[in-house]
Amino acid sequence: GKNILYYEVEIKEFKSQVYPDRGPATLWGYDGISPGPTFIVEKGTETVVRFINNARLANSVHLHGSYSRAPFDGWAEDITPPGWYKDYYYPNSQSGRTLWYHDHAIDHTAENAYYGQAGTYILHDPLEDALNLPSGYGTSDIPLILSAKQYTPSGSLFSPASETTSLYGDVIHVNGQPWPFLRVEPRKYRFRFLDASVSRSFLLYFERDAKVGTKVGFDVIASDAGLLTAPQRVNELYISMAERYEVVVDFGEYKGENVTLKNAREVGADRDYPDTDKVMKFVVSGNQVDDESRVPAVLRSVPFPETKSQVDQHFKFERSNGEWKINGVSFADVANRVLARPKRGTVEVWELENSSGGWTHPIHIHLVDFRVKKRVNGKRSVLPYEAQGLKDVVWLGPGETVTVEAHYAPWDGVYMFHCHNLIHEDHEMMAAFNVSVL
Ligand code: C2O
Ligand code: CU
Ligand code: CU
Repeated sequence: GKNILYYEVEIKEFKSQVYPDRGPATLWGYDGISPGPTFIVEKGTETVVRFINNARLANSVHLHGSYSRAPFDGWAEDITPPGWYKDYYYPNSQSGRTLWYHDHAIDHTAENAYYGQAGTYILHDPLEDALNLPSGYGTSDIPLILSAKQYTPSGSLFSPASETTSLYGDVIHVNGQPWPFLRVEPRKYRFRFLDASVSRSFLLYFERDAKVGTKVGFDVIASDAGLLTAPQRVNELYISMAERYEVVVDFGEYKGENVTLKNAREVGADRDYPDTDKVMKFVVSGNQVDDESRVPAVLRSVPFPETKSQVDQHFKFERSNGEWKINGVSFADVANRVLARPKRGTVEVWELENSSGGWTHPIHIHLVDFRVKKRVNGKRSVLPYEAQGLKDVVWLGPGETVTVEAHYAPWDGVYMFHCHNLIHEDHEMMAAFNVSVL
């Protein structure tokens, strides 16, 4: 028989105290912690996860980055009410990567995710081991899940439920802790960044406290769909909601120093808050270690879709009459919300146009990994670390049009695509596509 791994996760309430002089916030998360428990799964090993809902709101679980069959993809209306559970089946057939699981329930994804329903799911491909990157979960391979929260004077979370545009948050959290510090050895580390915030994008850089103003260079080695073709040396990294970037930072020369992870500026139309320029601190201590890990010049041959020039779909992400829409359609418009019908096994080119004024939208397409081909009418061109790997989320700046190309291969079925600003998503900036068999 087949080897299927079974897990059980209970969504339940817990308390978290951020301010010593205010009460604790009541959150609800997977297994009562936030981020939820980290899954580490070998590529090709199937998993079944029973998500038991013992929280207050209905939920739907999406494993973001997975080639899931439609019934297990966290369809927004496939909700599990409090007191019920659902078993989700994951084939884990995609390339090794950092996935994340989070809530996707209709109309209150922002609330559920913000109150704790997000966690990391690492799909490990044994082929990666030969590369000798820094390894060992929790020792020198560490997920860093960014989020931004806002608290009320009594210490509870300021709810996103009544927001209609954004919730930026003025308290930056990493792995659920506000502005934490991490003790590291003078050696290389692999950090898996995920921006799990509701509406906040980051421009990250590392700075030695002893040399303020000088950015520490690092290598971007992976994005949403796993390893890039080759490491990209940078000194700053854009990351937007739901994007994942993995980096290798070498603290080898900074023994006895502190290195601060900073946020250079808020991307797009974000509000300005005083303390959002810093994220966390690394305290480099301990003795020089024998660090045999490395960043090889070639990482893998990325399975880019066969390139084609024809454009199959053009989608406008817009704001009309105070509502967020895609090509004039909202997700509530059930009869019209299937906006594309790619044939299974074919490659399609989609143009994503931001025609919503100064707003920004990180656009996520479920089921597929895409290549970012072109970026026009905005401030950036395609970044090397966007282009050298496959992605499932792409940031759309004000006025920009981004062209993406994907192989609609894994399965047939109806899947969602949407803005990953969770307020926009809940306010109907979401549609569906139907992959049909040829
Ligand atoms: Cu990360 Cu449709 O979501
Ligand atoms: Cu997804
Ligand atoms: Cu948006």
